[in-house]
Amino acid sequence: MIQPTVYQKKLEGKSNAHLITFSDGKDYVVKYFQPGFEKSLPNEWVAYCLARYLGLPIPYAQLVEIPQDFSSQVPELAQMGHTNFQFASLYVPDCVDAHQVSNVSKIINHQSLAGIILFDYWLCNGDRTRKNILLHEENLNSYQLWVIDHAEIFGSYNWLQHDLEMLPIGILKSATHKLMALFIEDEKQFTEQLELIQTMPILLIEEIVALIPDDWGVSMEEKKGMVTTLLSRRKNILPKLVQKVIQSVYRPLHQNQG
Ligand SMILES: Nc1ncnc2c1ncn2[C@@H]1O[C@H](COP(=O)(O)OP(=O)(O)OP(=O)(O)O)[C@@H](O)[C@H]1O
Ligand SMILES: [Mg+2]
Repeated sequence: MIQPTVYQKKLEGKSNAHLITFSDGKDYVVKYFQPGFEKSLPNEWVAYCLARYLGLPIPYAQLVEIPQDFSSQVPELAQMGHTNFQFASLYVPDCVDAHQVSNVSKIINHQSLAGIILFDYWLCNGDRTRKNILLHEENLNSYQLWVIDHAEIFGSYNWLQHDLEMLPIGILKSATHKLMALFIEDEKQFTEQLELIQTMPILLIEEIVALIPDDWGVSMEEKKGMVTTLLSRRKNILPKLVQKVIQSVYRPLHQNQG
């Protein structure tokens, strides 16, 4: 397992994410377990693994152990929680977020955009704000898009078991989804992505949830609830939502293009 070598800085945002260099020579954005945000790290982990299966552009991530003697030397880390594992996401340098661009003429990985939108609906991610995509300019006004920050899937960073039964089933208000939908070239991509989500092996979903570190405090019932929610949303809710997204998000943006 990679070891932390140099503390770089605290990143902006409510998660208190920290930029740390590791023994592989790379920088990672590390999120610690925080009281009041008990589901942030389990959410990040599950979202990351599901996104990887779906082939979505999410920065490479892993569970890491930051030894106590490393954290205690950094005032910003000394105050963080002391779980064995933290969530580390490979830092993608030289990106801007969607607030910081005025002219996007092309998204290079546009084939992933329908998948990202359905992923957010499947996992009930209400936090796809303009800050939670990263854009890397490859050519003038032409960007590679990455998704980050899945601390608020299942509706929030501190959901409880019964919240899972009451997750929203309607259209999410997201300017970022609209921005992404502009660059989707064919509405068939939504149904293709639905198929991919619906055929993901149940065993794999169960394994991903089972791998949540014990010291993040997710109970067996809550883990079961996560799996059940994923299975029932993909079967019962997502097909209807796909039609709604096509009708109320995708088509209004594309109807004048003939
Ligand atoms: N893999 C990454 N590569 C580059 N920058 C990143 C990465 N992950 C996070 N960041 C930067 O760190 C900031 C905080 O990360 P993130 O959005 O995951 O957590 P947050 O604190 O919950 O944010 P928010 O305030 O949106 O809730 C991001 O806005 C982004 O600028
Ligand atoms: Mg964020």
